[in-house]
Amino acid sequence: MQEITHRLSNWYKINKRDLPWRQTSDPYCIWLSEVILQQTRIQQGLGYYLKFTNTYPSIFDLANADIDEILKLWQGLGYYTRARNLHATAKTIVNEHNGNFPSTYAELIQLKGVGEYTAAAVASIAFKESVPVIDGNVLRVISRLFSIEDPVNSNPGKKAIKKIVAELIDKNAPGTFNQSIMEFGSLQCTPQNPDCKNCILNNFCLGLENKKIDTLPRKIKNKPQQVRHFNYLVLTNSTHILIKKRNENDIWKGLYEFPLYETEKKLTHEKLIDNDRWNKYSDSITIQKISKEYKHILSHRILKAIFIIAESDKIIIENKNEYFLIPIAEINKYAVPRLIERFLTDYKFV
Ligand code: ADE
Repeated sequence: MQEITHRLSNWYKINKRDLPWRQTSDPYCIWLSEVILQQTRIQQGLGYYLKFTNTYPSIFDLANADIDEILKLWQGLGYYTRARNLHATAKTIVNEHNGNFPSTYAELIQLKGVGEYTAAAVASIAFKESVPVIDGNVLRVISRLFSIEDPVNSNPGKKAIKKIVAELIDKNAPGTFNQSIMEFGSLQCTPQNPDCKNCILNNFCLGLENKKIDTLPRKIKNKPQQVRHFNYLVLTNSTHILIKKRNENDIWKGLYEFPLYETEKKLTHEKLIDNDRWNKYSDSITIQKISKEYKHILSHRILKAIFIIAESDKIIIENKNEYFLIPIAEINKYAVPRLIERFLTDYKFV
């Protein structure tokens, strides 16, 4: 065990990527980086991290920020609840802890949006608490190294892996150790075609010895995802465009979209156009185009969206708290889901 820990630490010293959150002990920056990295890979996450730390250099700046602005900065990362939780937690830390980050795993996990992964990452990296961090990289590295056949998304699988990492962890440098396994998983013990011939752990690796590298980690297959069909009306007059804020307790709360008609099945073009649904936005709509279908995969759902591009010089605003007629050129100031951003780019609205 000790030899594995030692080799990983040495490997990390030589191979770790030079990243700004590795040059700070500020728990605010470390927390921010870990929340972002749950949504995306390091390369893309770096851009978001820099945007957030430039805009909000301290937790006070984030706590005082406007949620619409935070959602706009988060745009493209998906799972916007994380962005709302970032804001809520920043406010809690400022209002209830005078801006000082809680320093233990037990306290950190009480914060909104902070789960086992984030609490363990912040506690170990910022406060040197010896708690194992378990992410997808760690599950892969350990399941291969110890030839663990239990599915890594099952409780027995996760428990077995956590126990091993708790034994491997370097008690003097737990944060560095945790980052070393994650980094090792992302650079060396890769999901596809890992270079086992040139691996510092190949003579300890039971998965390699058992010829199981290609089948580990094992995962239980989840139920097939449900499909939701979003039919959008993109309605403009000569200068303005009609948008709508999502307030429902559903995906994308707080983001902007277009007037929406959701259906369980895909509609034919005839049904899409010939629909009383759209009358409430104008009684004189001219349909110009119907977009291709955009597909967007979420953790438990597949979204399929169609955009009906239309014009009217008499746009009706149903409810002024929910619908807004904004200058077309200003659409890029609003936080929209990635799916809508793709449409706006394709059809040259931005
Ligand atoms: N993935 C998420 N957080 C990480 C970190 N701190 N180091 C390496 N990989 C990571």
